Amino acid sequence: MIYFDNAATSWPKPPVVAEAMVRFMSDVGANPGRSGHRLSVEAARVVYAAREAVAELFHAPDPLRVVFGHNVTEALNLALRGLLHPGDHVITSSMEHNSCMRPLRALGRAGVEVAVVPCSPQGFLRSAGVEAAIRPNTVLVVLNHASNVVGTLLPVAEVGRLARQHGLLLLVDAAQTGGAYPIDVQTDGIDLLAFTGHKSLYGPTGTGGLIVGERVAVAHMEPLIRGGTGSHSEYEEQPDFLPDVYESGTPNVVGLAGLEAGVRWVLGRGVEAIRAHEEALTQRLVEGLRAVPGVTVYGGLDAQRQTATVSFNVAGMEPSEVGLRLDEDCGIMCRVGLHCAPVAHRTLGTFPAGTVRFGLGAFNTAEEVDVGLAAVNSLARQFIPPATPFVRSRSCTGRVLPPR
Ligand SMILES: Cc1ncc(COP(=O)(O)O)c(C=O)c1O
Repeated sequence: MIYFDNAATSWPKPPVVAEAMVRFMSDVGANPGRSGHRLSVEAARVVYAAREAVAELFHAPDPLRVVFGHNVTEALNLALRGLLHPGDHVITSSMEHNSCMRPLRALGRAGVEVAVVPCSPQGFLRSAGVEAAIRPNTVLVVLNHASNVVGTLLPVAEVGRLARQHGLLLLVDAAQTGGAYPIDVQTDGIDLLAFTGHKSLYGPTGTGGLIVGERVAVAHMEPLIRGGTGSHSEYEEQPDFLPDVYESGTPNVVGLAGLEAGVRWVLGRGVEAIRAHEEALTQRLVEGLRAVPGVTVYGGLDAQRQTATVSFNVAGMEPSEVGLRLDEDCGIMCRVGLHCAPVAHRTLGTFPAGTVRFGLGAFNTAEEVDVGLAAVNSLARQFIPPATPFVRSRSCTGRVLPPR
């Protein structure tokens, strides 16, 4: 079995993640910040330790500015819906995930003006395009750091500088890069960093959040929900301080115990080392796929300018058929279709069928990439004209089979 679906959710997780979660459930289990007894205090310590780990990873100066939620989608909704009002103008790119586009489209119907800056057919964005889109009523730029379809990296640090020059806020969707690519919210000029725990932070599903930078005034970003926080229980109004203002209801503490372990594992291995490993695998995969007759690879075709997410198609086969054959015949798990990013596929010219996506992770190996390449090779050969000496094959080895 080979897992190439890390762009959706990473797997396997480092064993320390499940161990931390089991430890929390067996030894602590209480509600953080609500009661004064030792288990409640210990649960609060677990949550704070997760804040510290996330702040360290992304170089956020204050762990209390790390707001936890369920995933990056919730974090993007919090920032977009909390900051934008009718009459405001927001700039985004044509490579975004629906986690960003859908709230933006809803806000557009409510009177927010949305500008979508076109990216190149390889999925790259020029910061000059963002600058050209700025208007007097622009308040925010929102970009994903890397495409979840082809992995292309967007120039967030350049846009961060622009945003500061023009007095705008920058919100970055780091779903595909958090833990897999170095991010420094301070030097990259990121005001709001939305992250998800279950991808390259190696935490469990149901964890994520938003880092709220110092240029964001809490008074100007409405919470998504209001309710019990365990703080200022004497007031019927929502607290106005971080992180409580944006964290109502009992948090996913067992998930955060796992997230802290995942982030500590990433920090221990080193983001640079993970990046180097994934970049080498990506290079091998892109080069290998490009050499297979009948296979089209999308994106920048340059491992240095993308994450370890690679999209391709096999001539004559629907992406869904390729995915099914890879899974059933070869034990290779990947994702096919539109990957929740229709605007990105329109940019790449792969709408509506989509692509086959291999999302590599820290646990994948060069040998697995080679098996994947052989499997794709074997599938692609079925569609080479009959004169060529290959037969329809279920082989995952890439071995050339004898003529019929
Ligand atoms: C770029 C990007 N944004 C947002 C998301 C949504 O992530 P989540 O489901 O964890 O909210 C994903 C996940 O696929 C993604 O790749």
